[in-house]
Amino acid sequence: MAASALFRRRNRASLLCFLLALLAHGPALGSAQTPVYACDVAGNPALAGFGFCNGSLPWADRVSDLVGRLTLQEKITFLVNSAGSVARLGIPRYEWWSEALHGVSDVGPGTRFSSNVVPGATSFPQVILTAASFNTTLFQAIGKVVSTEARAMHNVGLAGLTYWSPNINIVRDPRWGRTQETPGEDPLLTSKYATAYVRGLQDRDDGDKDRLKVAACCKHYTAYDLDNWKGVDRYHFNAVVTKQDMDDTFQPPFKSCVIDGNVASVMCSYNQVNGTPTCADPNLLAGVIRGEWKLNGYIVSDCDSLDVYFKSQKYTKTPEEAAAKAILAGLDLNCGSFLGDHTEAAVKAGLVDESAINKAISNNFATLMRLGFFDGDPRSQLYGKLGPKDVCTPENQELAREAARQGIVLLKNNAGALPLSPTAIKNLAVIGPNANVTKTMIGNYAGTPCKYTTPLQGLSAVVGTTYVAGCQNVGCGTADVDGATKAAAGADATVLIMGTDLSIEAESLDRTELTLPGQQQQLVAQVASASKGPVILVIMSGGGIDVGFAKDSDKIASIVWVGLPGEAGGGAIADVIFGAHNPGGRLPMSWYPQSYADKIPMTNMNMRPDNATGYPGRTYRFYTGETVYTFGDGLSYSKVSHELIQSPAKSLSIPLHADHYCRSSECRSVDAADAGEICGSSGMMDLHLKVQNDGEGMKGSHTVFLFTTPPAVHGSPRKQLVGFEKVWLEAGGEAVVKFTVDVCKDLSVVDELGNRKIALGEHVLHVGDLKHSFTIGV
Ligand SMILES: *[C@@H]1O[C@H](CO)[C@@H](O)[C@H](O)[C@H]1NC(C)=O
Ligand SMILES: *[C@@H]1O[C@H](CO)[C@@H](O)[C@H](O)[C@H]1NC(C)=O
Ligand SMILES: *[C@@H]1O[C@H](CO)[C@@H](O)[C@H](O)[C@H]1NC(C)=O
Ligand SMILES: *[C@@H]1O[C@H](CO)[C@@H](O)[C@H](O)[C@H]1NC(C)=O
Repeated sequence: MAASALFRRRNRASLLCFLLALLAHGPALGSAQTPVYACDVAGNPALAGFGFCNGSLPWADRVSDLVGRLTLQEKITFLVNSAGSVARLGIPRYEWWSEALHGVSDVGPGTRFSSNVVPGATSFPQVILTAASFNTTLFQAIGKVVSTEARAMHNVGLAGLTYWSPNINIVRDPRWGRTQETPGEDPLLTSKYATAYVRGLQDRDDGDKDRLKVAACCKHYTAYDLDNWKGVDRYHFNAVVTKQDMDDTFQPPFKSCVIDGNVASVMCSYNQVNGTPTCADPNLLAGVIRGEWKLNGYIVSDCDSLDVYFKSQKYTKTPEEAAAKAILAGLDLNCGSFLGDHTEAAVKAGLVDESAINKAISNNFATLMRLGFFDGDPRSQLYGKLGPKDVCTPENQELAREAARQGIVLLKNNAGALPLSPTAIKNLAVIGPNANVTKTMIGNYAGTPCKYTTPLQGLSAVVGTTYVAGCQNVGCGTADVDGATKAAAGADATVLIMGTDLSIEAESLDRTELTLPGQQQQLVAQVASASKGPVILVIMSGGGIDVGFAKDSDKIASIVWVGLPGEAGGGAIADVIFGAHNPGGRLPMSWYPQSYADKIPMTNMNMRPDNATGYPGRTYRFYTGETVYTFGDGLSYSKVSHELIQSPAKSLSIPLHADHYCRSSECRSVDAADAGEICGSSGMMDLHLKVQNDGEGMKGSHTVFLFTTPPAVHGSPRKQLVGFEKVWLEAGGEAVVKFTVDVCKDLSVVDELGNRKIALGEHVLHVGDLKHSFTIGV
């Protein structure tokens, strides 16, 4: 759809001219252009008289002035991503769809690269690896670079202002093909990522909170994390979700994104939730996003969710009804053409009033106003000086390498096999289908990167290497065992770089297998047996892999997970392997054995285990079975110890009225609303820790996790992250980390009906091996 729309815009005659120009002057495609913007008062003084162009009026007045000037037909053209133009008002076409998941991307039609103006943009690691850094400063720093590059490209007409990123769905199941796009399985980490990345994209350097640098969008709302699994696809899937799972797993990241991140947009998904397509659900859209969370911005559909629920889900009998339902539910913008095609008929049929359309386009216009689109030429506004020189700067590219370094997770390291010595190693065998890849490192929703450093290039910059791919591709139908074992037998050490790529896990492609694809595992085992020196297994993947065989093998000294590490991934891998960087990344999602995929249907949305059916539940918060590695796992080249230097009281008593039902001994929890003063200052508990690097290892960053285990009531989580902090430790150095635990917020649980409750009984706080128990009573 995107490509053909772009093509249509260039008519045949101009295509011919373009071809002739190409012959005469070389490539002209995507030569520098001017940005699109409305209210070009300098070029057309008549526009100055329009209220919507008047910068001294409040947004709301400008928006209603504009809406008041449009006919119904014109209004309808502003309900779709390829929005209309109104020549008499000086409004050009605006394309809403741009993407910036981990760098400015040309996946949406609103943004493109141009070989002679901006050939590429900085391509950061896929989000799952960045999330593994557990560094919120980094999340925001990346967002800020991306929005700077986006503004720079906008000024030369190559990029839009509205970006449909980040993807903040919880990874409920390791098979999900889009795991790579997300911050993983934990609601707190995902919420923090969403807030920080959105602020990095949106916040302006002048601190003006009403205006936006670029507009971000949190997607896909909600309970969306199945793409295409054994014939069940996202276009038909009805996610059956309990109120409890909704409120303590699927919704929290969206709530944080809107409330803490102040995001300018939320995208509803393709799937149904409990029988209603999310984009047609007035409770989820108007009720929750705009009503409870007070979104300041627009709600957009996935592309094209409306067509999907009409045609694939047959949710309504007529397309007019489908259009009306979305608008009445609170949808403002349709990615696709459905609302453009069917809204007028829906209005004529009396299914939706023009006032509802006014409301929707007002939200869209208000967003564009906050972006400066109605303030004339962006080159004379803040960020107007940015241009091609500000894209792919050395600093931006270094941040891409830094992000990969910070995210890389060391999962196994026998007898200090890593780091390898850059002086002692004369010949390194580098083996595997992902050892010399480029595109694989940037995953999906990528753009064209500034340049690539492949793992082989990164490692070869440090020591001499012998490279054998070992398989033709990650599918690895047959393995070149002889070539690979020969290289390993003659080398001082062996690095195997295995894993997946978009042919195995991607949008519209969930996995059925969690093991390494094809003959990869056999190749690893054979190479490990034949190697002279230590064997390092590097896994490049979005989701977790069942590497149980390698974890248990004494022939494989080390395992390193590098996610999809972005354009500079090879340099970062070398930094970790040769010890220029001390790895401090931690897994943002659990890795399960293959048996998990064999036994559990991906379609079961329940987070909690069910003893009656043997269903083990999902994620480290609920899962009761075996994992290969678990959320939070990760080693470093240092030994770090934790010591509690200030711990909260051992017990806490909630004062209740004498006749409160919780005076009875059967009471197991108190409604947070009844906990009165506990939910004020007396419910804040301080926990201070001294974190020390023992000094024998290297300096580096260390992530401190604070988990709680609440009493087992209301199907509460077995363990839950309530805080994390990344600290820098010199060799032998120490740092103090302070957590403030809010009893009502951090220690409460969501009950079966979705209410927040304070569980009575013993709560255990964990940091590393330290435990602190305390009891809440009445
Ligand atoms: C813009 O609005 C202000 C405030 O209402 C008004 O004083 C001014 O005349 C307007 N400017 C133009 C060009 O109409
Ligand atoms: C490694 O990949 C790079 C980038 O695609 C390519 O230029 C180079 O030739 C490859 N090296 C080998 C040894 O195949
Ligand atoms: C489920 O089974 C486990 C293990 O046997 C047990 O510890 C747990 O209490 C049971 N949970 C429920 C809700 O019955
Ligand atoms: C977090 O990331 C920022 C940005 O890269 C970096 O400056 C900082 O040192 C990191 N924090 C820690 C503790 O590693």
